[in-house]
Amino acid sequence: MPREIITIQAGQCGNSIASQFWQHLCLEHGISRDGNLEDFATEGNDRKDVFFYQSDDTRYVPRAILVDLEPRVLNSIQAGPYKNIYNPENFFLGEQGSGAGNNWAAGYAAGDRVQEEIFDMIDREADGSDSLEGFMLLHSIAGGTGSGLGSYLLERMNDRFPKKIIQTYSVFPDTATGGDVVVNPYNSLLSLRRLTQNADSVVVLDNGALTRIAADRLHVQEPSFQQVNQLVSTVMSASTTTLRYPGYMHNDLVGIIASLIPTPRCHFLTTAYTPFTGDNIDQAKTVRKTTVLEVMRRLLQPKNRMVSITPSKASCYISILNIIQGEADPTDVHKSLLRIRERRMATFIPWGPASIQVALTKKSPYLQNTHRVSGLMLANHTSVATLFRRIVVQYEKMRKRNAYLEQYKKEAPFSDGLGEFDEAKEVVNGLIAEYEAAERDDYLDPDAGTGGQGT
Ligand code: GTP
Ligand code: MG
Repeated sequence: MPREIITIQAGQCGNSIASQFWQHLCLEHGISRDGNLEDFATEGNDRKDVFFYQSDDTRYVPRAILVDLEPRVLNSIQAGPYKNIYNPENFFLGEQGSGAGNNWAAGYAAGDRVQEEIFDMIDREADGSDSLEGFMLLHSIAGGTGSGLGSYLLERMNDRFPKKIIQTYSVFPDTATGGDVVVNPYNSLLSLRRLTQNADSVVVLDNGALTRIAADRLHVQEPSFQQVNQLVSTVMSASTTTLRYPGYMHNDLVGIIASLIPTPRCHFLTTAYTPFTGDNIDQAKTVRKTTVLEVMRRLLQPKNRMVSITPSKASCYISILNIIQGEADPTDVHKSLLRIRERRMATFIPWGPASIQVALTKKSPYLQNTHRVSGLMLANHTSVATLFRRIVVQYEKMRKRNAYLEQYKKEAPFSDGLGEFDEAKEVVNGLIAEYEAAERDDYLDPDAGTGGQGT
């Protein structure tokens, strides 16, 4: 029985990363640009139906809903090489077509006007699946549509499908340089509240770390979004391999979330991936083999993390799941785990048993291996809260000066004042406190008072 997942891609960033994700899945599953199976795609031990359904004429169609309030990106998808794989009824373009202008409040306010049409699409997709497992929302949190309309949709989806899992891939702005959207701290804080309250699991990616990794890898100073999004789509496809090529464990979202998220509020996951195609091609490949230990060791290195966090002495891993592909057997994994433990390469929480979990997965038979072994780490690390704290600090600086507030006050969520901001800040501060509490050994002690208020 497939456990179907419906993808909702919102705004420029959401649709751009999604379009590369779908191309990647098509290549892995041997699906051609028109949705038909390639002649060579005869292996059939994959589960295409988690992310695709088959139309009457047996073409594979992504379970995707493409949402934006401005036409540019959707138009380019409709003119691009994979234009024919999507269901044309699943494109939603806001009527005015002018976008939300990097304003969370404008995107959220648009939600009231457009939700009926979007939920018709979502309901139709949900009705078309046998045993829907949940949803994936792909978006950035710094602009207006993916962040504001994305927040609105998260709240409504939570009400409407309370038993279904909601996972997001959320692109955070570059908090080190301030990013390219001046009001991003406002938009990020307001979105972060919904990610805390209305998602079961959030994969956190940030443009600062992504740009740095892409620049290192490609030896360019300023990588394009297209180049950065390659990394994102690699991470997304690796993190869904256990769903698409099922083995004994981690073969549904519930299983993955259960193994990574012991307490529901601490549900923000960071990722690392190694090696990217193109990495070390010149030197290392000729002088050494990629081994399981090498891959697992590199996954723990800060420079391979796709998020800018600042670990402290107290910070620790709540959980780790490594998804390893390629020539690896359980003995290699076992030895590597021992080595990592001996050398204390990873510090875990003091309040419960935790260790690195490893899933060895099958991989697409249709794509050439560029490396013997590759790996993705999904990690729940308490220092993710340092990223949230930077957002709160940047928000406070702007708020203190009343900077750029007028454009927010004009929109419906702020018609009664600026309470939305205060509530969001309280929830995010509660989240930060929860992660700090999780660094202490009395975290699960009912008398300890975790400081984690809000829901
Ligand atoms: P509005 O255009 O304001 O209505 O909202 P939107 O959701 O379309 O905004 P957008 O997705 O452009 O959000 C802006 C943020 O996303 C900025 O921080 C950009 O750097 C980032 N961003 C935009 N496009 C991409 C992309 O293709 N890849 C990545 N990684 N980031 C992107
Ligand atoms: Mg836009």
